[in-house]
Amino acid sequence: MQAVRSRGPSPKRSALSGTASFDPSDATHPEENHPVLCEGRVAVVSGAASGIGAAACRAFAGLKMKIALADLPSAALDAIGKELAAVVGEANVLVIPTDVSNFEQVCKLRDTVYDAWSEVGVLLNNAGVGAGPDGKTGTAYDGLDAWHHVFNTNLFGVVNVQQAFVPAMLHQENPAMIINTGSKQGITNPPGNTAYNATKAAVKSLTEGLAHELRTKADVHGIARVTAHLFVPGWTFTGLTRASGATEKPAGAWTAEETVKYMLSRVAAGDFYVICPDNETTFESDQLRIMWAAADVAQGRPALSRWHPHYKRLFEEYMREGLASTEGN
Ligand SMILES: NC(=O)c1ccc[n+]([C@@H]2O[C@H](COP(=O)([O-])OP(=O)(O)OC[C@H]3O[C@@H](n4cnc5c(N)ncnc54)[C@H](O)[C@@H]3O)[C@@H](O)[C@H]2O)c1
Repeated sequence: MQAVRSRGPSPKRSALSGTASFDPSDATHPEENHPVLCEGRVAVVSGAASGIGAAACRAFAGLKMKIALADLPSAALDAIGKELAAVVGEANVLVIPTDVSNFEQVCKLRDTVYDAWSEVGVLLNNAGVGAGPDGKTGTAYDGLDAWHHVFNTNLFGVVNVQQAFVPAMLHQENPAMIINTGSKQGITNPPGNTAYNATKAAVKSLTEGLAHELRTKADVHGIARVTAHLFVPGWTFTGLTRASGATEKPAGAWTAEETVKYMLSRVAAGDFYVICPDNETTFESDQLRIMWAAADVAQGRPALSRWHPHYKRLFEEYMREGLASTEGN
């Protein structure tokens, strides 16, 4: 066994500012009077037929935006299209069946949106799958079909949409934003679904690179007109969580509406990293877990030491002390 050299980074109080937990009903609404999240602007949402994507579409309809819904063809996609048309009017809703893993279909999605509305305000890259078409997940050395399926959807779905839309968005005069949906699993890498984790780690890397590239294109005032944001949902009750066995919302999970409400409030405030809590995991717990994972690399601990039997007690102590130090902040 490798000797335990250090107990890891002490959680510094200064790095742990922020709310101890989030009550979605208390969310402020910085999106009010926001130049992108406002009446008449266009939202394009992938994975719009279910879960977080559907909740985002409803939130955009609540802001009186125009909405393009992209998802695989399904009755659910048609149904939410009809539901939203009843709210914002048929002329303000486009239902565009699209497989985001197919670049030609994504280009058709872009052309349909620009032909209709000539702009995009919010591009929400949200389509995602947790496993292969047969429901099996990929381990590090098994399940090649699952690896291809989750990468084609979760990573290349985002790459395709960025490649198709971003050049057009850069030519717009109005500000715009690209929101890519990652996962805590792409940051702390918990054992269990290695292929999914790897896609979400790649989405984090891709979105950080996009944010930098957009920033270097900032206009004369030094302000990027198109910004990128990494949206990291907490545990949210959706089609994805149903697929892993839950039939009704577990107490620890948020609803998709809660997660979207939190995400919009943080994105509107300008955050790049939007790490959503849930009813089980506070903002501080996430911060501590993220710092522990980074310290594996910085301090040369074993991979995924959080789940290593020799580090179990140390990790528990680190969390206990870290959370105690933030109490009363
Ligand atoms: N639910 C959670 O707890 C959770 C946590 C972290 C991240 N996420 C992420 O949130 C995003 C939304 O997932 P959700 O939880 O709402 O699940 P969901 O299953 O309810 O919704 C995902 C949607 O993506 C669509 N989709 C799948 N493959 C597609 C493709 N090739 N082209 C177009 N659409 C496709 C599905 O048809 C579905 O409507 C995903 O990227 C997921 O990885 C979810």
